[in-house]
Amino acid sequence: MADIQIFDTTLRDGEQSPGVNLNKSEKLEIAKQLERLGVDIIEAGFPAASEGDFEAVKLIADSVKHSSVTALARTHQKDIDRAYEALKDTERPRIHIFLATSPIHMEYKLKMTEEEVLNKSVEMVTYAKERFPEVEFSAEDATRSDIDFLCRLIEQVIDAGATVINLPDTVGFTTPYEYGRMFKIISETVPNIDKVNLSCHCHDDLGMAVANSIAAVENGATQVECAVNGIGERAGNAALEEIAVALEIRKDFYPYETSLILNEIKRTSDIVSKLTGMYIQANKAVIGRNAYAHESGIHQDGVLKNAETYEIITPELVGVSENTLFLGKHSGRHAFKDKVMEFKLDLSEDDITTAFKKFKLLTDHKKEVTEDDIYTILMEIKTADTDIPMYKLEDFQVNYGPENGTESEVSLRTPDGRVVSNKTTGSGSVDALYGTIKSLIDMELNLIDYQLNSVGRGKDALAEAHLQLKVDGQVMNGRGSAQDVIEASANAYINAVNRYLIKNTEEKSVSVSS
Ligand code: KIV
Ligand code: ZN
Repeated sequence: MADIQIFDTTLRDGEQSPGVNLNKSEKLEIAKQLERLGVDIIEAGFPAASEGDFEAVKLIADSVKHSSVTALARTHQKDIDRAYEALKDTERPRIHIFLATSPIHMEYKLKMTEEEVLNKSVEMVTYAKERFPEVEFSAEDATRSDIDFLCRLIEQVIDAGATVINLPDTVGFTTPYEYGRMFKIISETVPNIDKVNLSCHCHDDLGMAVANSIAAVENGATQVECAVNGIGERAGNAALEEIAVALEIRKDFYPYETSLILNEIKRTSDIVSKLTGMYIQANKAVIGRNAYAHESGIHQDGVLKNAETYEIITPELVGVSENTLFLGKHSGRHAFKDKVMEFKLDLSEDDITTAFKKFKLLTDHKKEVTEDDIYTILMEIKTADTDIPMYKLEDFQVNYGPENGTESEVSLRTPDGRVVSNKTTGSGSVDALYGTIKSLIDMELNLIDYQLNSVGRGKDALAEAHLQLKVDGQVMNGRGSAQDVIEASANAYINAVNRYLIKNTEEKSVSVSS
């Protein structure tokens, strides 16, 4: 069995998904869950991109103990210095440097010749190696690069100190056969290739990212770069859970082992989808809602007689379980604490007290409080950035009027502590509500996208709203949950505005080009 290292880029390439913007504490919660999942390397971000990115990478680097933490850098000294500052206190730091090697990128984007790209790569790998024990070099757009040039460059960056060579299919253009062949040629041609780990990094533009990654592994790659739920630039990255489960279920065919704890997959997928607002399609492999559902009578009959007739993956393997009941209305704080500690979330006594109060409020309205409900509450508490003054929903009312439209009245507490109220009408409850909230906030607010989901099943399931809101020209995600759909919607809207306040207080973004 060969060991395959899992390099997770949910927090870097995944966070580059359109509309995704995670705050520091959300990134930290995801990183901790990635560690519980057993990923070998967590790519925590791109410290030179912004102050916020730098701080998030540093926070993760200082908190994560078992996984190696890496950060992205261009072939610029200041990027490498910034990554070093962010990573210097982590146990197993690694830098990830990239420079494009394809003719189209070199000519139009970089305006550099092959020799200039080669020299720059060697120079910056040498510089990085003086600071980091592990240096990963990525030849961006490797799959559209000239193979002889690629071999020459790889040999020289290895001599300069690179310990991992990553060959990304940056634009999701390659096929399994071609990608596998590229790894084979490089493994057989580059004389010092045995000194490094070879890595694959695939995008899903043609829907082949997972197949391409596995083809790379079959041809010498010992590291797979992937993202939870397959999120990432454009159509996304290879989905971590699909690669992990494919290698496990077909281990008769693939003699490779990873260090992943497979039954942490569902929880990891849930956290990432909740915090990014990127929902999972029902028919998504491994973690989609329908992945373990059997609809046709023939299939149901077969599964009842022997589950393996139609089920190659058991839900238990990836941690999919019934959304079990949590505790009852009369449970005390002690029992509550014992139970929430099972989530392994690093909860302080204050977190537990806040969560217990919310749990009690929920039991007043909801017959059955489930583990998913409690998890949603805990995530909200763990990921709230509370020290910056923010907007808060004080009160709201929505009255349906078929004749004069729906009327909504909202009271908000502003960041400077005033309570402001207004009443407006709209063409439906959410429209009226959002119109009123908008009238109370002195910013340019435009709703781009709005989705409503339930946490678990049943008519009293907790509602979870996600939206994208343009706040003074910046697209922000917002999420909110409550038992009432209108309250969840209001919370999501206010959350997006608050995220804008946090972002613009914490960050002085700098624009990044390659
Ligand atoms: O897709 C890509 O080429 C990348 C690199 C920065 C590794 O994400
Ligand atoms: Zn990428």
